[in-house]
Amino acid sequence: MDVKQLKLLNKELSMNQEEYQKKYQEYASQREKVKQDPWRLHYHLMPETGWVNDPNGLCQFKGTYHIYYQYSPFDVEGQTKLWGHMTSSDLIHFKQGEPVLFPDSRVDERGVYSGSAFIKDDTIHYFYTGNVKLIDKEYDYIYAGREQNLVHVESQDGYHFSDKEWLLNQSDYPQEMSCHIRDPKIYEKDDRYYMVLGARSMDDQGCVLIYEGTDLKDWQYKMCITTNEPFGYMWECPDLFDLDHQQFLLTCPQGLPHVGYRYENVYQSGYFPIEIDFKNQTYTLKDFKELDYGFDFYAPQTFEDEQGRRILIGWMGLPDIDYTNPTCERGWQHALTMPRVLTQQNGIIHQSPVEEMKALRQSHTQTTVSNFNDCHLNGYVFEMRLAIQKSDDFILQLRKGAYLKYDQSLKLLTLAFEECGYGREERHIELETINNIWIYSDTSALEIYINDGSYVLTSRVYSLENEDNIQFIKSHMEATIDFYKLSSIIVK
Ligand code: FRU
Repeated sequence: MDVKQLKLLNKELSMNQEEYQKKYQEYASQREKVKQDPWRLHYHLMPETGWVNDPNGLCQFKGTYHIYYQYSPFDVEGQTKLWGHMTSSDLIHFKQGEPVLFPDSRVDERGVYSGSAFIKDDTIHYFYTGNVKLIDKEYDYIYAGREQNLVHVESQDGYHFSDKEWLLNQSDYPQEMSCHIRDPKIYEKDDRYYMVLGARSMDDQGCVLIYEGTDLKDWQYKMCITTNEPFGYMWECPDLFDLDHQQFLLTCPQGLPHVGYRYENVYQSGYFPIEIDFKNQTYTLKDFKELDYGFDFYAPQTFEDEQGRRILIGWMGLPDIDYTNPTCERGWQHALTMPRVLTQQNGIIHQSPVEEMKALRQSHTQTTVSNFNDCHLNGYVFEMRLAIQKSDDFILQLRKGAYLKYDQSLKLLTLAFEECGYGREERHIELETINNIWIYSDTSALEIYINDGSYVLTSRVYSLENEDNIQFIKSHMEATIDFYKLSSIIVK
């Protein structure tokens, strides 16, 4: 590629507010088309048009939940990276806001990448990665040619932002690191702030860098967290928080080999229970556990809301997938998960949809596994809760060609797709026993929580009209079932 071509490419990926507003007008019919799409989600946040990826800057400020996200409004492949914005006061009614951050400056001209929010003294502080690719010559953009700047902006209301402040640049990172250092998240302890950043070292080991500060502006490099044995080449989107006095480090390792039924996706998302002694710069990491076992889950972010709940929202999608989502030709791609409350037991994170989702429940049917098929239930938008008395083999058809199966002798739970998987076939969880299952089905998405949410399977799924019969194909287990049709969240 010559410099001219590189410059052209660069232009494509920058976008300022004016350019956005102009294009937004031109996209009115496209927005209408997406609104009419039968695969449009009923209770998951999705783009008006174009592409969405990581949730960013999650927070609740003066009662309002702010959900920002990586957004490429006019491009289903996600080439341009803005911060989109939605707000809600109850997690059921949402307001679609204007994007708040655009890749329009020297510090972030190739993408306003992921970041987070931190509330202090009536101000929301945002930290994000400004992505820059040098174009004076050809680079690999891994070990050279890329800047990942730490940028700070603040807001008194979540809508109006201060000027961008460039806090760290590539030369502020440790020398042994590659150019991939991003996705800042803040953790506060003992009157000090710690910022975690996902990183890739020059010798391709994934790790998390920690910076320390006392004023949210001046950050000093403190330490690097990684595993004894290399565990992937890059760790994206780190998040550090406490649940009941247990510290957890969430991160998304890239480059883990697929072993048995573990690490089945192209990239992973999970957590280490961790104990960090910041003063002595030491830490102990326990085993990594996946947060989700479905086809479509990545880059989650958590925040503490005003009720003190630790809430997680994930990206219901993955980068660099080797199949094409059929919504692309309908003008949009990807979505966010439901907000999930996190709790922990003995170092295991449990996820459970926020209580607010109960407001969507409509008709209620209570039955048992053995009587379920006689109820002739159908629909794509439902919640189904199984309280299992006797765990044994079963095959539950969730819609035509989508099955949840359990094999008691193999101790294996499988989510299996036929045509509705569009090339994706099976995902697995190894499980000794099953006590309960909560299934949330949306037009083109499934979130399945097992054993009080200690395992979750999140997947997109694409069915045609009238393929929505829900029935047991095999049913040796015993369970009581509560089935609810669900209505939609309101996005205006
Ligand atoms: C994760 C990620 C982040 C990055 C962002 C760019 O999906 O690659 O590491 O900041 O997406 O959109």
